[in-house]
Amino acid sequence: MRWTLATLLGSALVAHQALADLSFTVEATRKGVRIPQSEIKLVPFEFGRSRIGHGHGTPPPGPPGRSSSKMRRANPSATSANWCGSVNTTPSNNPIKVVHGAFQHPTCSPRAGVTTFPQAAANWVGIDGDSWTSALLQSGTVCKISSNGAIVHEVWWQWVPSAAFTISSMPVQPDDWFDITINTTSTTAAQVTIINLSQGHSYTLSITNGPTLARVNADWVVERPYYGSGLVSFPSFTDVWFDEAWATRTTGSLGILGAKQFQIPGLCASQEWDDTHEVSWSL
Ligand SMILES: *[C@@H]1O[C@H](CO)[C@@H](O)[C@H](O)[C@H]1NC(C)=O
Ligand SMILES: *[C@@H]1O[C@H](CO)[C@@H](O)[C@H](O)[C@H]1NC(C)=O
Repeated sequence: MRWTLATLLGSALVAHQALADLSFTVEATRKGVRIPQSEIKLVPFEFGRSRIGHGHGTPPPGPPGRSSSKMRRANPSATSANWCGSVNTTPSNNPIKVVHGAFQHPTCSPRAGVTTFPQAAANWVGIDGDSWTSALLQSGTVCKISSNGAIVHEVWWQWVPSAAFTISSMPVQPDDWFDITINTTSTTAAQVTIINLSQGHSYTLSITNGPTLARVNADWVVERPYYGSGLVSFPSFTDVWFDEAWATRTTGSLGILGAKQFQIPGLCASQEWDDTHEVSWSL
């Protein structure tokens, strides 16, 4: 099935249609077996994400079946109101083609002393949105805590400034390992592959007519998302380790070595541990 914003959103959110003519198809497998289209469900993502912003403990083992070395390094630091994590930038004449990362969805809890809800933390891999501010293609997970204490976990994607989608047929729990690959085939088309490594559950979205990317920023981020026009409260969450954080370019590759290490002052800290590892944690 070919999804369009109109088929997905109905009339209630028709305003988003003006933003882009983006459309996409979704294919999904579970342990290599195709999931019927009728069982693939996407819904509008509750949090607005159209504003583009400007470790502790012992590292856990890497993704299942993979090995990883971990050594603390020091990247240049930057601050942001809503991004915590690594952004590496390439010159526009050597653009990024693929961005990859694997992480464990964290355990979230209401932040001590914070009484405003919802609270949400989004963990994602993306391309652009930092030095190129007019578009950002991103995918990952989010935990959301509502005022009654209920915590929901979701997989989502968005090609900013177009609308965001939750893949509601792909459940996620704390500690699940996710492997995200964003493979751009042009500045306006990409394949996004989301794999639950623990279960071999894989979704591939083929998206066309997206807002134009420059393909200059590779992002591995824990974000405090917007809700309406304001930032939501940021919950506490367990450390998020981005593993195998790599990007390919026309020439050569790009990791997090030398990336800008974004901090959200007072709320979230981020460190680089080696060229393929990064950790973020809430303060
Ligand atoms: C991912 O794997 C975990 C087991 O580690 C499982 O509990 C969870 O439901 C899986 N999610 C999907 C979407 O397959
Ligand atoms: C990206 O897409 C191209 C074209 O479809 C394909 O040849 C390549 O293997 C993909 N790369 C990754 C890392 O998925």
